Amino acid sequence: MSDTETKAIPADKLVRVTFQPEGRVVEFEYGTMPYDHHGKPMSFLDVAENNDIFLDHACGGVCACTTCHLWVIQDGGISEADDDEIDRLDMAADQQLNSRLGCQAVITKPGNYVVEIPKWNRNYTSEGKPLTLAEGK
Ligand code: FES
Repeated sequence: MSDTETKAIPADKLVRVTFQPEGRVVEFEYGTMPYDHHGKPMSFLDVAENNDIFLDHACGGVCACTTCHLWVIQDGGISEADDDEIDRLDMAADQQLNSRLGCQAVITKPGNYVVEIPKWNRNYTSEGKPLTLAEGK
């Protein structure tokens, strides 16, 4: 194979994550994504940080806030929530049955995953980065 050819991801190792409502789709081969040191390795926060997708994480991804709260629309194989995550989620606004913390919910196998970032988290994002308010406004 030449250097210019694109190496296809084998179907049985493909991870596809869609971040709603923007519909940003990230694809990578399971087991190859580097750890970005935000949240647990292979968490949705880790995936987002690796791909320049803004997902708030005020505590740095250590299960000490709820700013990374998201809803899981399609679960291709996510880790079970532990007691610390469940306790923390009880403090999240608009908690639903499919609520998870983006820094704690880990992708455990290849498959399709769809998550939605709640509006209070996305309303102040622009071009994938948080907005900064101009002084005096
Ligand atoms: S970033 Fe704080 S709990 Fe996930």
